[in-house]
Amino acid sequence: MVVALAPLGSAMVEGWSRRDVELRSRLVFRSIRDQVAAGLVAPPGFDLGPFFERLSEDERILGLGFCTEAGTLRYATRQWPKAITCASLKRDRTDSFASVTDRGRRIHVSVFPIAAGPVSGHLLLLHDLAFADERAREAQFYTILSVIGVAAGLGLLALAMVLALQRSWVRSVRTMVADMRNRGVLDAAPSGDSPLGRELHGLLEELRVERTYAEGIHVEWSPKTLHRLLMEELPGAEVLVVSNREPYIHNRVDGAIALQRPASGLVSALEPVMRACGGTWIAHGSGSADRDTVDRNDRVPVPPGDPTYMLRRVWLSDEEQDGYYYGLANEGLWPLCHISFVRPTFREEDWRQYKAVNARFADAVVQEASRDDPIVLVQDYHFALLPRMIRERLPRATVITFWHIPWPNAETFSICPWREEIIDGLLGSTILGFHTRFHCNNFLEATDRFMESRIDREHASVTLGGHETMVRAYPISIEWPPSALDGQTPIAACRAAVISRFGLPADAHIAVGVERFDYTKGLLDRIHAVDDLLTRHPEWRGKFVYLQAASPTRSKLGAYSALQAETVRLAEEVNARHGGKGYTPVVLSIRHHEPTEVFEIFRAADLCIVSSLHDGMNLVAKEFVAARDDEQGVLVLSGFAGASRELSEALIVNPYDTRSMASAIDAALRMSTAEQRERMHLMRDMVRQRNVYRWAAQMLLDAARLRKRARILAGAA
Ligand code: F6P
Repeated sequence: MVVALAPLGSAMVEGWSRRDVELRSRLVFRSIRDQVAAGLVAPPGFDLGPFFERLSEDERILGLGFCTEAGTLRYATRQWPKAITCASLKRDRTDSFASVTDRGRRIHVSVFPIAAGPVSGHLLLLHDLAFADERAREAQFYTILSVIGVAAGLGLLALAMVLALQRSWVRSVRTMVADMRNRGVLDAAPSGDSPLGRELHGLLEELRVERTYAEGIHVEWSPKTLHRLLMEELPGAEVLVVSNREPYIHNRVDGAIALQRPASGLVSALEPVMRACGGTWIAHGSGSADRDTVDRNDRVPVPPGDPTYMLRRVWLSDEEQDGYYYGLANEGLWPLCHISFVRPTFREEDWRQYKAVNARFADAVVQEASRDDPIVLVQDYHFALLPRMIRERLPRATVITFWHIPWPNAETFSICPWREEIIDGLLGSTILGFHTRFHCNNFLEATDRFMESRIDREHASVTLGGHETMVRAYPISIEWPPSALDGQTPIAACRAAVISRFGLPADAHIAVGVERFDYTKGLLDRIHAVDDLLTRHPEWRGKFVYLQAASPTRSKLGAYSALQAETVRLAEEVNARHGGKGYTPVVLSIRHHEPTEVFEIFRAADLCIVSSLHDGMNLVAKEFVAARDDEQGVLVLSGFAGASRELSEALIVNPYDTRSMASAIDAALRMSTAEQRERMHLMRDMVRQRNVYRWAAQMLLDAARLRKRARILAGAA
């Protein structure tokens, strides 16, 4: 009996250990994937080697390396086992695992596909399996001991042994969990049919729920799952959002009140989240009928007709708007953070107004908070000082700040006269989020250069004056399924409607661009590319139309009005060169377009061009993908938009390179429907899974974890 049971026990333990290692590898991979991807496309001279070496200091990780698509091993850590080569491993499009023996030592190899822009390959993660052998030996030992005990009639002793064994497993899982908690992530729990004890199951179930949310595994993020997460992880929490732009604008048009949904990526991302979570959204009341639609506390329930949350409007005078919004935010910080070669302007008076308006919003937060520990989601570069102001007045608040635009390198940021104050203000946050790890790193560099603070690069946090701020990447997204898709007619009908509305040729190949009239979006570069296309490929004349839907924005500013005028001039020039006899190659629609019309335009298009010169994320790219439930249409996307990191099946272009952008448009026009379907299918999958509910969930889960930790520390104190 002993002989029969011992190998069985060893095999079971071996199986569990292997699953442990696979789950752990997946966890490690997920937590470093973005950094590795950023490293792969970093400028020449950057080396992932030191980063891999640091990770391999972990007791169980034996090594890390990267196999190029051509099968060359790069960045392999020291002590790399000779037996493991790229050629000897299975490297395909899904994760795979293997076990290799090198000089008598058993090694577990995890192979993960990874792609970053044009670079792709596989990340290799090696784990020493010695611990599994040790575990198996232990299990064998206890099994034999138990059987002998039973045989000798020492039932009591056998029971004690089983309990001891169980406790040792629980302890080892606890240690593993603590280790992972220290790293800020948790691995998956074994399935419920695992033969572990009840205590262990309870513990693992708790972890499973938390980790399932944390990693987004098996969770189709939706309003429902986000809501459930709030209820389970942050019960009773009060959510407040602060942004400059409001989600619903009431305007007076011909004496009647008209509702407008602003052209704003921030609003399209956050609004569905607020519908799911409820709470209060504090924003500048900018509409001409906004004051007529609020109650005496300046509040209005929204969405109109089906309210789920409260909009609290803050009124700003013209001087305040000029200084805070047009001045410091849009003539100073906006060009400072975007590399689009428009000189930032910094004026003392603008800074004064910026501080005053941030303080006014801090007052509004304190007024709206009904508890002393709300979760406040502060949005964007309009409110760099607000997190610190909230921290001072509501020290127990969890402040999650999201910076929707890029953060420049420290050298560029250094030209801001109030750089220290801005960083200090942001470090009042509990969590500070950017779209990409690259922008997080830029922020940490700037903090390192200008502040007397402690930076923990391992955990990506900054401690200033005893307060710690986590700096994390949360790639923003859109709702899925998008509400603007509701009630859309079939593709052919959308096409017919757009052709008739904009007077396009009936059989036109249609390219579209949809955005605010902003100099960061590369509108002129795109029209230059259309010009080049029609010059080098005259066969497209009469057949190809570029429709640009552009909403006027920040028009008070010279750079914006000049861009609008130049766009109109350039379009006329290109039309004169290539058009005629009723054919207009570049059609401009300069007005506000409601989301449903934008989606109709997307559905009518053969391709969509997003040619941002620099963009934090760019949600238009994701909206185009979401609009195409027919899995047709090609996305031509700038490599300088954050979205290009996720939508790698788009045709990625450099908008400064007119010739190659024209070639990409040509390639898009000629792409087979089968290839379009394949690319669109993958991109839609990506946007569906990494939707905006997941974006919000990741931040809220991190917040929940920090709140729990703070409670434990307070209890211990
Ligand atoms: O991209 C930055 C951003 O603030 C977005 O978050 C927002 O969608 C956009 O600019 C709109 O700007 P504004 O509110 O000034 O029109």
